[in-house]
Amino acid sequence: MKIPDIIIAIDGYSSTGKSTFAKLIAKHFGFTYLDSGALYRAVTLFAMESGWISADKKINLAALEKGLAGLDAHFGEGGTYIGTRCVEKEIRTLEVSGNVSPVAAIPFVRAYVDARLHAFGEQGRVVMDGRDIGTAVFPDAQLKIFMTARDDVRARRRYDEMVMKGEQPVLEDVLKNLKERDYIDSHRETNPLRQAEDAFVLDNSEMELHEEVRHSGIMALQVEIDPRSGFCGGVIRAISKAEEFLEAHPGEPLYSVGDIVHNEAELERLEGKGLRTVSKESMPAGQTLLIRAHGEPPATYARARELGCRVIDCTCPVVLQLQGIIREAYARVKPLGGQLIIFGKIGHAEVLGLVGQVDGDALVVENEAMLDEAIAAGRIDFSKPVEVFSQTTKSPSGYAAICSRLHDRMARPEDLRVHDTICRQVASRHAQLADFARGHDVIIFVSGRQSSNGKVLFDLCRGANERSWQIGSPDELQPEWFRDGDRVGVCGATSTPKWLLEDVAQKILQEK
Ligand code: DC
Repeated sequence: MKIPDIIIAIDGYSSTGKSTFAKLIAKHFGFTYLDSGALYRAVTLFAMESGWISADKKINLAALEKGLAGLDAHFGEGGTYIGTRCVEKEIRTLEVSGNVSPVAAIPFVRAYVDARLHAFGEQGRVVMDGRDIGTAVFPDAQLKIFMTARDDVRARRRYDEMVMKGEQPVLEDVLKNLKERDYIDSHRETNPLRQAEDAFVLDNSEMELHEEVRHSGIMALQVEIDPRSGFCGGVIRAISKAEEFLEAHPGEPLYSVGDIVHNEAELERLEGKGLRTVSKESMPAGQTLLIRAHGEPPATYARARELGCRVIDCTCPVVLQLQGIIREAYARVKPLGGQLIIFGKIGHAEVLGLVGQVDGDALVVENEAMLDEAIAAGRIDFSKPVEVFSQTTKSPSGYAAICSRLHDRMARPEDLRVHDTICRQVASRHAQLADFARGHDVIIFVSGRQSSNGKVLFDLCRGANERSWQIGSPDELQPEWFRDGDRVGVCGATSTPKWLLEDVAQKILQEK
């Protein structure tokens, strides 16, 4: 989108995510991002290093005023500089944060910083964040946004940020510092922090970044993440059991028999924590094995026992129940010469676990064409009882079609017993996802290439919205998929982590 050479001013309280939001907007429009707080921080660092701030926080004003005349604080490659020295890291410490508000309240410091901000910003095409950009530095800025959020939310954000940088902050200290700074910033005499009358107010206490962008209406695109996408209960349970084990047994490996989830990015994350993936054939003796949500046939458990392995069974409760129903049905129909049919993907882990319950004595069909072939080959005896099941993640409409075909062929329709075995969570997602796909202009469906559920759900999206695209990671996004004004929906399979959907949403907003 073409946008005039304007100044965008983003003001607000500390740790409201101003800089993240400002950087995203700057990248989106090709503008320069300027962090005015960084200059106040650089001045504070300079005063601290020069010994002009005492332990009881008294500032030597005369020395600082003189010192500023020779101070070259500016923005450069990689952040904020004092002369040729990059001080980006040093200005972000809690010590500097503890001194910066009193320093920023000094009128001659504000004059020093304002002069620099004007020099950088006057030509336009900048997004500047701070406390008084829209009220004092650039009161004529064409777009002003005022950001706010609850104290506890902001303290938590700042705390997480510091932890990520390897610091060890105390949450209470962070909260205290934040409140002190807010107080000083909004009560000082010169250009205090306040909301400009013509600012758009954004309270992001309960918002993720992509929601803020949507709410502000600032970009040509709107992106929404399907609230129902993300891991299903069974996968969440398996992953949290794996993480619990790895945290409780540092240095001890945990071997998942097959991929714990069909998603490369999430696998990489868990591998980083110590999870290893092995095939059934290479289960290591005497180790701890994890049986994933898909479940396993009895032979795998027997083999693990032989190898002296400890087993953490994370079979999804819905699959576990289905395995039991299949065993019962087999005991019922076999003596009568009947048979079991499973609607599922041949070779899929869950299906192998299901047919393993009856020593492989069940017919698996993937679709109607495969059922027709089996019928033509005489592999189904319609004069005997037939019990039919579905893999838990298959499409309800596909299953209904298979059952109706069988029903029409039975010598006695009452001899066909249809088991309702599609997971409720998955079944309800089908209807909701189709609505989601219809309700957006473009659909970005995120899932691992291996995910069978992903394939089913993506086909469903395509059926509902032909501008649907499947990707495995944010790098696969193509700019030509999007047009100005599009409402973009981001969704995924039951094996797609929420954080990956967030990454994709963010990349769409940055790149478009
Ligand atoms: O955005 P920040 O937390 O890095 O800002 C550091 C301090 O600088 C903040 O407590 C208040 C001050 N500041 C200011 O007074 N005016 C600005 N425009 C930007 C920051």
